[in-house]
Amino acid sequence: MKNRSLFLFLLASMILVVFSCKKTSDTPQTSFTPYQIQTPKWFPTMVIPADNAMSVERVQLGRKLYYDTLLSNNGRACAGCHTQSKGFTSDNYPGGNVLPHVNLGWSKNFLWKGDKTCSLEDMMVFEVSDFFETDLNKFNANSTYKKLFYTAYGINTITHKDLAYALAQFLRTVNSGNSKYDQFRRLEVALTPSEENGMTIFFTEKGDCFHCHINTFFTDNSFHNNGLDSVFTSTTMGRYDVTGNTSDIGLYKTPTLRNCELRNMFMHDGRFTTLTDVIEFYNSGVHQHSQNIDPLMTLPYKVNGLHLTQQDKSDLLMFLKTLTDTSYTNNTALSKPN
Ligand code: HEC
Ligand code: HEC
Repeated sequence: MKNRSLFLFLLASMILVVFSCKKTSDTPQTSFTPYQIQTPKWFPTMVIPADNAMSVERVQLGRKLYYDTLLSNNGRACAGCHTQSKGFTSDNYPGGNVLPHVNLGWSKNFLWKGDKTCSLEDMMVFEVSDFFETDLNKFNANSTYKKLFYTAYGINTITHKDLAYALAQFLRTVNSGNSKYDQFRRLEVALTPSEENGMTIFFTEKGDCFHCHINTFFTDNSFHNNGLDSVFTSTTMGRYDVTGNTSDIGLYKTPTLRNCELRNMFMHDGRFTTLTDVIEFYNSGVHQHSQNIDPLMTLPYKVNGLHLTQQDKSDLLMFLKTLTDTSYTNNTALSKPN
């Protein structure tokens, strides 16, 4: 009899323990584990908006959203067009050349025509509310996301802004700064003579690439007409579509050249499929009389092309390939979460 009540007592306490454990795990806890962005020393400090301080929980949440088709109403996820192995771009999207996701935490102008000049957070608000038109009911009916948002942001109702802020956290970690070129800058590896000659062409007047694809990010985050076209139609007006200024006809955002080796669509409309074609364009195909062409493209010594030799062209290509960063394309912290 004594044993039996002891048994019942133990059973009751076990049930109580199980019950109370379950209860605590059901109650979401906010938590904030500060996240430190790791970038090479020569990258400028990334400015993080005060209302979206970086935390491990927020980055993880943004990563989950990035890969989740729940965000769209048609089965798409961000990662569907922005694929990690391609440098977070796509090589078969018929709607245009998908801009890569890399080092965007330092960017102010977004999209080829610069439709958005804002913080990454505000750019994400546009992606979620205008581009994906995310159905918030789906998120507010999803207990997993409710918990994750409570943990990361302490909120009970998920809005477009909350989805956007979490996505921005993840994108702030999608950075590339460990290519062969970066390792060379850190004096860890040497470049081959061919890569070195290519680098000289790139960074001197000979190729004159560096004025727009400027060092570190390989973009100046600005807009230019690099002479692709001589005639503009309603579909090739570029930044003019956003500003309405005739001086912006034909201007597009300078794309970064980091990881360009992994792409096979180049320029805003993806008209070139190889880097060799791009180099030949700069060497001999620039439309010098294009309206609003950037003055850099029409310097007197360029009027008849850059006069690069076959060797120069192939060396320039070799240099562009040193901008490929496999530690970014293979980084499991950026890949689809389990
Ligand atoms: C259907 C394909 C597709 C999907 C899905 C997609 N994108 Fe894009 N993305 C593009 C294309 C194409 C561009 C370039 C469009 C332009 O500039 O007009 C782009 C550009 C961008 C840019 C601008 C980058 C820069 O350098 O200016 C950002 C940021 C971006 N996308 C974020 C996202 C996010 C976040 C998602 C998910 C919410 C997403 N994209 C889903 C195709 C897609
Ligand atoms: C006057 C500024 C300027 C100069 C100088 C310049 N570029 Fe560009 N580059 C651009 C702009 C702007 C674009 C996008 C144009 C467009 O899509 O309409 C671009 C696009 C590219 C692209 C395509 C990238 C992609 O992802 O689509 C490559 C590659 C490239 N440039 C390489 C070079 C090289 C190599 C040089 C030197 C020989 C060079 N650029 C000189 C402004 C410049």
